[in-house]
Order: sequence, then C-alpha cells, then structure tokens
Amino acid sequence: MTRTMEATERALDIETERTLSPKLRPDGHTLGFGTVFTDHMLLQTYRAGEGWGAARIAPHAPLTLDPAAGALHYGQSVFDGLKAFRGVDGDVRLFRPDAHIERLRRSAERLCMPAPDAAAALRSLRTLVALEQEWVPSAPDTALYIRPAIIATEGFLGVRPAREYLYFVILSPVGAYFPQGMAPVKILVEDIQVRAVEGGLGAAKTGANYAASLHAGERARSAGFSQVLWLDGREHRYLEEVGAMNLMLRINDEVVTPPLSGSILPGVTRDCVLTLLRVWGVPVSERPITIDEVLAASLDGTLREVWGTGTAAVISPVGELAYRGVPLTVNRGRTGELTQRLYDALTAIQHGRAPDPYGWMAPVKRDG
Ligand SMILES: Cc1ncc(COP(=O)(O)O)c(C=O)c1O
Repeated sequence: MTRTMEATERALDIETERTLSPKLRPDGHTLGFGTVFTDHMLLQTYRAGEGWGAARIAPHAPLTLDPAAGALHYGQSVFDGLKAFRGVDGDVRLFRPDAHIERLRRSAERLCMPAPDAAAALRSLRTLVALEQEWVPSAPDTALYIRPAIIATEGFLGVRPAREYLYFVILSPVGAYFPQGMAPVKILVEDIQVRAVEGGLGAAKTGANYAASLHAGERARSAGFSQVLWLDGREHRYLEEVGAMNLMLRINDEVVTPPLSGSILPGVTRDCVLTLLRVWGVPVSERPITIDEVLAASLDGTLREVWGTGTAAVISPVGELAYRGVPLTVNRGRTGELTQRLYDALTAIQHGRAPDPYGWMAPVKRDG
C-alpha cells in the first residue's frame, strides 16, 4: 500500500500530494509495454453547472467509482496515448502533446463529454511529467508512455450524457518496441467483422472501438498472425487500419494511405509520416484503396512496402498479408527501404539525435 503525506503541498503550481513510498524504477533494458506505472498521477473532476475543478497530482492508486458510473455501462470514456522521450542530451521532451490533447478533445466531443481546456491540459500534463522526469528511461528506443483519459463518473443508470466526469493522466515507462530491430509482422485481412463504420466512433479514441476489435484480433493471433487489417464496414473492400495503427502502402513509387473518412483514427504518427514524405519529395496520396488493388499490385510486383504507423511502435513493417486464405508476401518478408528510413528519421527526432525542424518536440521544464 502506498503511504501518502497527510498534508498536501503546493508544488509546481498544482496541488501535489507526493507519495511517501516511491517505487523502484525498473531497468530500462527490460521494460515491456504498459505494465509499470510511475509514482504519481494527475486528477481533475468535472460537474455540470460548475465546470472543471483544479487539477491535482496524487500518488498513482486505484480509483473509487460508483458502480453505476456511465463509463462502466454506456462506454462514455475516451483516452489518448503519447510519449515523452529522454533526448541524447538528457533533456525530456513530449512528442506533439498539442496534437494529442486536441484529439482527446475531439474524441470527448463525439461522446458528448467535456474536456479540459487545451492550454490548461498541456500545462498540467507538463507539470506531471516534470515531476516524474526521473521515470523517463534513457535506454535506446525507450520512452515514457502518457495515458490521459476522461471517464463518466456520475452514478446514474439512465441513458444520457453523464453530468460528472474525471480526467486523469497516468504514466508508464515503456521499452523498445523492437528490441532486436524492426521485425516485419504477418497480418490477417479481416473480411467479416469490422472495427468501425463511417458515421460511427472510428475517429474517436474510445474504448468501444478497441472492444469491437478484440474478437477478430484474438482469432488472428491464434491463427499465427500478429494483427488484423480492417476493411470498411459497408462493402468490406476498402482498407482502413492495421491493428491499432494507421496503414500505408508503397505501390510503385507512390505511398498511398486511406483518407480520414471518419471511420479511422487520425493518427499523429500518420500526420508526421505524411509530412516527412512530402518534404522528401515522395509522391503521396490519401485515397480509398481496395483490397483488390492490393492483390493486383502484389501479383504484378508493384506492391513494394506495407507498414503501420502509431505512437507505440512508430513504424511497423508488414511482411505478409493473408486474405481469404491466400498469403501475399511483401518485399520478400523484409523491412522495406522507405519503412526503415521513416523509422530512423522519426526516432532520431524523438530522441534528439536529429534536429526538429517541424516543432514536434515540446520541452518539459526542469523540476519546480
Ligand atoms: C485505432 C488506432 N489507429 C491508429 C493509431 C495511431 O495513432 P497515433 O499515431 O496518434 O498513435 C492508434 C494509436 O493511437 C490507434 O489506436
């Protein structure tokens, strides 16, 4: 059990109750994903008619929730996921926190939920990460994963938007996604179940989309694949996302990616990759892509690379796609040249090994 100070202190401009039992920080070389949490979390409550209360920092601990809370029954919950990195100069920087906070706010709006003001959310998030900066690992390709979330807490069983919410942020040091170097994955094209439909919740980062994805994901895993490639919900023909990543294909010399039509998550990494490709002069097209086009490109040898983009892995090469029992090997199962170049360029910016001409890295102030 975590013992806490009785008196709270006002540190870092936010009421902060520090733990009296700091945890041992794990070795950065053995970290996995999302199993270890830092000492503190951020909490802020909302009540209709009163608005948001003051953010506060407290020891990371279980929440107390009314069992009738809307988040538990009707899925009124949204979240986001971003990272802080320790640069090679030792400084800690957040990767595009403004874009993630804006997406959290858009997700909340889609679910009729309030969200903290963007500037205030950025300030409190920075304060929390500054307090926990010793938790940001420095081993190669490690990071501090940041999980902000908003949940409906009002205890009420009628179906309507809740009147009480909790915004919280928890932090988890995470290991290298590919400790042995990038490894292309095998993907099963799912042609029965769907993750989201146009007009639905697909563009929001909300639990329902992940719940919808679990069944097919488990089936794919038990058949020896790492993830599912989602097709559209109406015709089951158009590519959408790969697992919890956005999808990109290199056909001939052009990179193609599904458009933000409302059923896929507008990925921050996707946006970075499109920026880099355009700067590099690589032709890029955001357009609908059918699975038939992919099959044809595979047959005529123009399907050169396939990869996913997302905060967790940054870039994940796809070495094989299986559709209705037919396996398509991509780039002979090896990581493609552009895939590798994108991974190297993005991770170099994130870890401060390369300049950041796009203003993606936001410094976290030193201890206050
Ligand atoms: C469903 C889904 N698509 C795409 C992404 C990639 O988004 P981002 O690059 O912002 O992490 C994620 C991860 O956040 C996701 O969960």
